[in-house]
Amino acid sequence: MTVVDIIEKKKLKQQLSKQEIDFVVEGFTNGSIPDYQMSALLMAILLNGMTDEETFELTDAMLHSGDIVDMSALGGTVVDKHSTGGIGDSTTLALAPILACCGVYVAKMSGRGLGFTGGTIDKLESIPGFDTSLNEEEFFDVVKRVGCAVIGQTANLAPADKKIYALRDVTGTVNSIPLICASIMSKKLASGSDTILLDVKYGSGAFMPDPESALELATKMVTIGTLAGKRIGALITDMQQPLSDHVGNSLELVGIVEVLRGKKNRLYYEIKEVAVRLLALTGKYTLQSAEKAFCEAIESGRALDKLAQMVQAQHGDPDYIRHPERFEIGTRDTVLADRDGYVSHMVAADIGRAVTHLGGGRMTKSDVIDFSVGVVMHVAIGTPVRKGDVLCEVFHNNGKGLSEAKQLIANAITIGDEQPQPHKIAYAYVGKDGVELY
Ligand code: URA
Repeated sequence: MTVVDIIEKKKLKQQLSKQEIDFVVEGFTNGSIPDYQMSALLMAILLNGMTDEETFELTDAMLHSGDIVDMSALGGTVVDKHSTGGIGDSTTLALAPILACCGVYVAKMSGRGLGFTGGTIDKLESIPGFDTSLNEEEFFDVVKRVGCAVIGQTANLAPADKKIYALRDVTGTVNSIPLICASIMSKKLASGSDTILLDVKYGSGAFMPDPESALELATKMVTIGTLAGKRIGALITDMQQPLSDHVGNSLELVGIVEVLRGKKNRLYYEIKEVAVRLLALTGKYTLQSAEKAFCEAIESGRALDKLAQMVQAQHGDPDYIRHPERFEIGTRDTVLADRDGYVSHMVAADIGRAVTHLGGGRMTKSDVIDFSVGVVMHVAIGTPVRKGDVLCEVFHNNGKGLSEAKQLIANAITIGDEQPQPHKIAYAYVGKDGVELY
């Protein structure tokens, strides 16, 4: 077997065998296959696609390139949720304590923000003392005692993906559905949970531009996860505007505390949809009983207490959860409506970029984040506005990046004459038995 034969085969749209896929993934990871040959193969895959069998074998080969976390010692149902990323997407911070209150374990490894999207780990580190780098023993101990813990990735999960992704990034081969699917699923399957809910976002603040392409990706990932023996489903959700009213690190924690205190905004309804679907996937709940358990966890105050317990167990100061006004927030400025009308469109990614300009995100991996800056939205798509109304508050630190941020936000929010239909939170759910449109 030679790499050239494998590239030729994919060029001719033929199906690759398990042996061929294993050979390529192993050879590229150990350095015996050079970048130029791997680039040619990745481009052939992008242009000619992969069958579900090939995508499964690619995922499996990448999954077995590193450690696989074993959660069986926890002795209960371990759930995980993965979002393909967006603006103001702080769902994990509320979901983890809510799900723990519903009797399942959440042992979550999350990422940091890069570019215009934020990361759960940065948001948690805005709580003084919070430790996102617990070792495996401490991590499992917190999960066992509290029911949930969130840390940065510790184990050497899917190193083949790290190498392949870096090459895709510079060879125009990122936006291939089988490659995205294998990249995400190899890491999800390596992180050890038995029940997984994927939140696949579409829109101006997401990877996939429209609901149809998000549905195609979601269907492929559910097929691969099911073949791997997991209970898995996917929601297709809207990212045409920031999910939370709060965008920024400390600010998103403030927004999460509001939701856990019962505020019913877009973020609340998205968290509810994800939690209910995930609990039903475990087989311990029906959709109805899951919804009841979700509402009870919030209305009783148990979910907020659980978040405070998790923060304390991970060495953070839980007083910030009980009194979020303690978070240091930057100096307030505003962006105002320049005409009467309705908010008709938003470029969500530019609101994320504005926060990065203020210092709340990273342009490169080594940038240091300013937790205190960000944006609080006062409008959503469909909101009626009068000239001079506040569209959003902008919190900055000594004016850093302020004028660029305000300009980006002003251009990102379009005000028109017609009131658009309010956007649905979710477009569809994909389960192993098919697609349910909302
Ligand atoms: N996220 C990933 O982890 N991999 C991709 O290929 C795209 C998004």
